[in-house]
Amino acid sequence: MRLTRVARAQGAPLLLAGLLGLAGGVGAQEPGQVKAPVKTGLCVTCHGALGMGATPDTPHIAAQPQIYLVAQLKAFRSGERKHAVMNVIARPLTDTEITELADWYSSVRIEVRAP
Ligand code: HEC
Repeated sequence: MRLTRVARAQGAPLLLAGLLGLAGGVGAQEPGQVKAPVKTGLCVTCHGALGMGATPDTPHIAAQPQIYLVAQLKAFRSGERKHAVMNVIARPLTDTEITELADWYSSVRIEVRAP
């Protein structure tokens, strides 16, 4: 009986937080409203402002799975994946910066069409 009351008392604020979070989430998904992390400034020359490769030999990173981007950036950072430029770019990145970059590029929306 006592346990039930405690659970109820804790449930209400959690539910409220959930609803508020949901309301905030809808607003955050408006195109162009999410600010790019500062470190994307290191990437724009080659990957473009939104992660679409700006030169013929640069891959698109926009809308790639977050988990893939994290794995590639960590592999470049450790040297496990070798590329002269990307190894230098990734070496000083912290885990937090890698997560922020991956979160942002993976949340960019692209449209695909059959050729
Ligand atoms: C000077 C150009 C240049 C800059 C600056 C640069 N990249 Fe790259 N990036 C490349 C090239 C070229 C490749 C392809 C590497 C290869 O062939 O393995 C690449 C590959 C990648 C990949 C792997 C993509 C895949 O499909 O596997 C990721 C992720 C990536 N870059 C993220 C970033 C991020 C994040 C930044 C900024 C912090 C950045 N890059 C800055 C040129 C650049």
